[in-house]
Amino acid sequence: MRVSNEEMMSSTDIPFDKVPPYRVKVVEYTMPTTRVERKELIKRYNWSAPNLPAEYIYVNMCTDSGTNAMSDRQWAAMWLGDESYFNSKSWDPLQEVLQKFTGMEYVMPCHQGRSGEAIIYELFVNNGDLVPSNCHFTTTRAHCYYQQAEPIDLTCPEYFDEHNSSWFKGNIDTEKLKRLFIEQGDRIGLVELVVPNNLCAGQPVSMANIREVRHIIDNYSRRDVVFSLDAARIPENAWIIKKYEAGYGDKTCLEIVQEMMSFADVTHMSAKKAGLVNMGGFVALRNKIDYQRLQPKLIRIDGFITYGGLAGRDLEALAIGLMEGVNDYYLEDKQRQCDFFAKACKERGIATFNPACTLGIWILAEHCLPHIEKQHGPGTALCVQAYIEGGVGFTSMDSLHRGREDSGDPTNIQKIQLAPYELIRCAFPRRVYMDSHYEWCAESLYRAMNWGNKIPPYVRQKMNQLRPSLEKRDIGLRAFFDEYEPLFDHP
Ligand code: F0G
Repeated sequence: MRVSNEEMMSSTDIPFDKVPPYRVKVVEYTMPTTRVERKELIKRYNWSAPNLPAEYIYVNMCTDSGTNAMSDRQWAAMWLGDESYFNSKSWDPLQEVLQKFTGMEYVMPCHQGRSGEAIIYELFVNNGDLVPSNCHFTTTRAHCYYQQAEPIDLTCPEYFDEHNSSWFKGNIDTEKLKRLFIEQGDRIGLVELVVPNNLCAGQPVSMANIREVRHIIDNYSRRDVVFSLDAARIPENAWIIKKYEAGYGDKTCLEIVQEMMSFADVTHMSAKKAGLVNMGGFVALRNKIDYQRLQPKLIRIDGFITYGGLAGRDLEALAIGLMEGVNDYYLEDKQRQCDFFAKACKERGIATFNPACTLGIWILAEHCLPHIEKQHGPGTALCVQAYIEGGVGFTSMDSLHRGREDSGDPTNIQKIQLAPYELIRCAFPRRVYMDSHYEWCAESLYRAMNWGNKIPPYVRQKMNQLRPSLEKRDIGLRAFFDEYEPLFDHP
């Protein structure tokens, strides 16, 4: 049975706020492990779930990137992939879907998010520029440094107030943005909004905030300024707008995505997330001349302009996945899963960042392990213990991993600032896990937390001495190479 995009939106009295709008056809077996083995493994692989061979992680929530389960519709379409180098027929359906999704005329595929970012930043960001954002993702931050520009994170004040109940804590601080334009507008050529704001606990951005950024650019810019949307998970942001921003309840998430896009000049998307594929991305823009200027850059980095580093079958899968990923019933179910996990945590006294949004669940590790000081990695320690307890993999986004390096002296680890929260990200691979998996994750965190002060604090080891030190322009990627060790053994 295959359902069309239109049929997927038919009205129904089946409660898709309680049950998923799909069922399972293929399953993947997992490797059984024991607690003793896991304790040994995590030690051998440097105290980090992302360092482990993935087969040893039972529920892997380290990332939602490229970890999606594809549908029968996508797998069927992949057989029709046209693998011609130039002008593959498989580009036609994707081009049409991208134009519809973005409302932008000029679209190009790329192999993943960062290759699209690389060409956009090369074109629009110059030496000495400031690049304001609600909070750059690691790779756009790195592209800023590569252009010898400075990323400026202007996250809104609500984010820093743990008890604030706003649904849009991912917004950019528009007052600060305006001030930056007034004071140093001649240095701003691109403004980046990440929707939702992955590195700020996945918090969404409101339509009002996006509109306001457009207004500021139109009224305060002193040179040509490009408004760029980092759209990796834009449908999930649209769901929160639909539910919680006045006036959007009757719109479909696709219409909301289109309206969000309507304020931007350019967008780049890692389709490995909400595109419901395992590999892919795209860039879209309104300006034909800019599109033509990007073309040679895409050819140099990714491939010809009709395949962008992807196989024909990948183009087919993305054309379908993008529409499945913006389907309202599907998004409602994704939010339900997050709510389920958040509730399972709450029932066990595990502190989560509120509100729990559609992207995933963030744990406030400083509340779970109050005996570990911020600089000693409560998130890192809790992640390791939860892996030992239940084979679950999360990503630590605590001060050890996400503290901000000093741009003048990046390799000086003494100067790294503490992060606002000691977070653990539990990212949700899409359509992969069931409620019982999430329950198990919450249970593993609970068992970990119950060890209390038997769980060791961590210290940063010196930068790995066997590696060449990082170049200044690579400092944004420091977290991938730092190493940490516990002061004593885990229980
Ligand atoms: N933008 C955002 C907001 C992202 O979260 C990511 C990747 C990218 C861009 C880059 O896309 O990986 O396809 O090149 N985020 C992954 C994560 C890696 O785990 O958050 P990519």
